[in-house]
Amino acid sequence: MERSVFLLTFLLSLCTIPFSSRAENPKNTQPPTAAHAELTNYGFPIGLLPSSVRSYTLNQTSGDFAVDIGGSCKITLPPDNYLATYSKKITGKIDQGRIAELDGIRVWAFFKWWSISGIRSSGDDLVFEVGMVTAKYPANNFDESPLCEGKHAAS
Ligand SMILES: *[C@@H]1O[C@H](CO)[C@@H](O)[C@H](O)[C@H]1NC(C)=O
Repeated sequence: MERSVFLLTFLLSLCTIPFSSRAENPKNTQPPTAAHAELTNYGFPIGLLPSSVRSYTLNQTSGDFAVDIGGSCKITLPPDNYLATYSKKITGKIDQGRIAELDGIRVWAFFKWWSISGIRSSGDDLVFEVGMVTAKYPANNFDESPLCEGKHAAS
């Protein structure tokens, strides 16, 4: 229970932290890949995926998807250097305004990796699910696709 409160505090604190990659490139809000465009079709901002997407598959009937971002990806969130990682392959089930059974996105906080298991769109907010804990923050924090650290831009 104590951990849940810590996590919630951590997730809420992210609301106020501008991503450095966004600050460097404030007008880059066009979907960089077809996978990002697909996210917007389902009511999600492109910033949920890093810019390095190589390929993706989506079953339009079941909503099952898999995204290949070319390698595992690390994003440091300033100023407190919270770390988020994306696995090379991210999988889940997408429906309008709802991503479930998510696998491959984790945040490091309080000496532990936390898997983001689902994401919901709720008005102007995104609701992140980490197990039984949820945290809501404004979707416009994710208007731009973050860059991966330690990787060269895909050509
Ligand atoms: C897509 O999902 C449907 C429903 O679960 C399934 O019947 C179908 O076989 C899937 N198609 C592919 C190509 O996996």
